[in-house]
Amino acid sequence: MSLDAKTLNQAHRSVADIWPEARPAAALVCGSGWNDLGQIFNLRETMSYDQIPGLGSTGVEGHAGQLSWAELGGVETFLFQGRRHFYEGVGWTPIAIPVHLAKSLGASSLFLTNAAGGINESYAAGDLMIVSDHLNFMPGNPLIGSHDASWGPRFPDQSNLYDASLRASLREAADTCGHSIQEGVYVALSGPTFETPAEIKAFRTLGADAVGMSTIPEAILANAAGMRVAALSCISNLAAGVSPDPLSHEEVAETAAVAMPRMQAIIEAFWPTLAKG
Ligand code: HPA
Repeated sequence: MSLDAKTLNQAHRSVADIWPEARPAAALVCGSGWNDLGQIFNLRETMSYDQIPGLGSTGVEGHAGQLSWAELGGVETFLFQGRRHFYEGVGWTPIAIPVHLAKSLGASSLFLTNAAGGINESYAAGDLMIVSDHLNFMPGNPLIGSHDASWGPRFPDQSNLYDASLRASLREAADTCGHSIQEGVYVALSGPTFETPAEIKAFRTLGADAVGMSTIPEAILANAAGMRVAALSCISNLAAGVSPDPLSHEEVAETAAVAMPRMQAIIEAFWPTLAKG
């Protein structure tokens, strides 16, 4: 299941035709519970994912499915509200389209957000976690397939995947706003099942601090293509076995809503730093 270059190019063409002037410096992908981040951006124009070949609608509650050409802190931004997931069974191409659009229209930075379960026992629901590194436990890698040099080298280096200077700027932004912030390792599985307590115990031993079902494929692609990558998780629940309660998608949305003012304040303080390129 490799990336479909033809669909990616059609997606690029459709957006470039509708917004010929768009030259985003950065792109932001809103994960579960992050949609209302859109409120702090100045939206220039918006299109539905249905207008972008290959992207389609997410079908996941809480994922709006719209792309906005937006601005914040002087940074022209593509704001993707809604993300496609591997567990939808549609392969890597819809997941790759936001990254492809951002890079093909000139963006140098990609900012990924998600909801995640807290594995680290010192984390609480509602914490925000800067992703410092990841463990890829998704079934495969979006770069599997014949080599396409537009996605970078055949064997991309991943030693500084989550850009160190962006992470420092995020810590500084949180500090400026007076909010504490965690930093840790994110592990992703395919989903759609949540994990078992035994799996969570194993991932803690392996060094994971939070678990989710997304972000890693986009981060792999953008890093390989030479973009700077940052990712922020909202710890929407304690992972299976850490919390005695069963997990639910409703809890994810509820916790994110409580954390939203903090998420907005930190992103608002951080975003102008992306103008430095
Ligand atoms: N596991 C996997 N994905 C998640 C979780 C979780 O506990 N919470 C939010 N997304």
